[in-house]
Amino acid sequence: MATTCFTRPAFRSRVVPVVVLHNPAHAVPLAHALLEGGIDVVEITLRSDAALQAIEAVAQAVPQMHTGAGTVTRVEDVQRVLDAGARFALSPGCTDALVDAVEAAALPFIPGVMTPSEVMHRRAQGFRLMKLFPAAQAGGLGMLQALGAPLADVQFCPTGGVSPENLQDYLRLPNVAMAGGSWLAPADVLAAGDWNAITQRARQACALAEQAGGPPARL
Ligand code: 3PG
Repeated sequence: MATTCFTRPAFRSRVVPVVVLHNPAHAVPLAHALLEGGIDVVEITLRSDAALQAIEAVAQAVPQMHTGAGTVTRVEDVQRVLDAGARFALSPGCTDALVDAVEAAALPFIPGVMTPSEVMHRRAQGFRLMKLFPAAQAGGLGMLQALGAPLADVQFCPTGGVSPENLQDYLRLPNVAMAGGSWLAPADVLAAGDWNAITQRARQACALAEQAGGPPARL
């Protein structure tokens, strides 16, 4: 499992923009806008027909951006996102078949979890970084604090309900490595092609993350 389990991600940002791109032409300007604002990672979700094209465009044109494929929920998604150039993948949940597929493809992977049993299952497979999804509905800050006591060797990327208002609270938890969310590049801002707005949102998120302190030492 060593090749597919994140221990220390290659990207620096503790904020992971979750994006749904319907226009593949938006992918490269989006990547530049995020980088300009200090964010070097993006999760492009497989929730649109343009997703694979968008991943490929960023992977080829903006290699300094760490492009992850999100919403990887089926075994057959793994080879598709790898071929498109994704450097890692995330899923809202996880199956053992998906774990087998990312292992066979040597694709770094952040599995989605929502319960202690799921955390233990993925930890037994070697994972130490997991996506808590949907974070707010799973219990948010309180859930992460509760998981941290008995399962202290697992780090999380909470996603779902994270916002500038609660980002620092999440990032200050000792078992939160990073947090994901759609507020950095929401649909209306993308549709308008307002790249300056995305850079501003990224800058604000980076400033909040900076104030919250560095990532947990044990990641
Ligand atoms: C999603 O499923 O779109 C992500 O979890 C983002 O959730 P958010 O819109 O609450 O940030």
